[in-house]
Amino acid sequence: MPDGSTALRGDVVADALAGLLAPRKTLPAKLFYDAEGCRLFARITELPEYYLTRTELALLERIGPLVRPLVPERAAIVEYGAGSETKAAILLSALRRPAAYVPIDVAEAELKEGAARLGRRFPGLAVHPVSADFLAPFRLPASVDGMPRLGFFPGSTIGNLEPPTAIRFLRQVRQTLGAGALFLLGADLRKSPSVLLPAYDDAQGITAAFNRNVLVRLNREAGADFDLDGFSHRTVWNDQESRIEMHLVSRRAQTVHLGGRAIPFAEGETIHTENSYKHTAQRFLAIAEAAGWRGMQLWTDPDDLFSIHLLEAGEA
Ligand code: AVI
Repeated sequence: MPDGSTALRGDVVADALAGLLAPRKTLPAKLFYDAEGCRLFARITELPEYYLTRTELALLERIGPLVRPLVPERAAIVEYGAGSETKAAILLSALRRPAAYVPIDVAEAELKEGAARLGRRFPGLAVHPVSADFLAPFRLPASVDGMPRLGFFPGSTIGNLEPPTAIRFLRQVRQTLGAGALFLLGADLRKSPSVLLPAYDDAQGITAAFNRNVLVRLNREAGADFDLDGFSHRTVWNDQESRIEMHLVSRRAQTVHLGGRAIPFAEGETIHTENSYKHTAQRFLAIAEAAGWRGMQLWTDPDDLFSIHLLEAGEA
């Protein structure tokens, strides 16, 4: 995920500025994942409060034998956002003689290193990394033409997309993978805020550092002058929208500068930095169906914390 750059692209700065000048201040989520953001996110996935990763890993291990007969032999596995080799390895081990693995991610160096490691671990598997933003349209390598396809999107990243964006993304995946494709996707579930809130506001303050890192980046890579102690991390459960929101709250009235503009903050005013939707399985299926997928199987862990859906492409 890290982009390795030292200066933010002009369009990213323009998006950040537009968000900060809006009546309800926001910042684009793409600011999270520089090298430090990726390091902090990796620590989040190991926190006791962040149940998502360990629950999904255990569920994937458990359902491997159930997924196995449902995926054709010699399939091409296309992973969207190849952040987790561990999950890909569990899936590849479960399948019947997978023919190809196509991880898609913007972070080219990490993508290639991870792909090479998986290639060594699964001899006979053709590995074709594609360096691209998986939210934008891209073409699959010609080498997987004619192979049955299984899309793979673990991690509940689908929950970070606004529902209309999630529908557009899922529709695009269906078009990229083509007729007859399957899609295995992990999605966190709606549950009590007493479980959700600590998962996004942990005792060690790692999530707070992850959130505040967007300001660190704007200072370092776009010449902004955010006083980092002037903003605190806040996590909100929005029941009506069924989502966790992350905000950065201004501790006092202050003015910040970015791109030659002065941005005034009132005390208590927030910058909304992230949404993490927690759909019920039914709601998620309605989103998938709106994008032309049909639910084939649904698995959850014994505590109903997390879900893995197997979808099949409907008629185009
Ligand atoms: C990447 N994504 C699924 C994480 C989530 O749970 O929404 C991002 C995250 N934000 C704060 N903690 C983790």
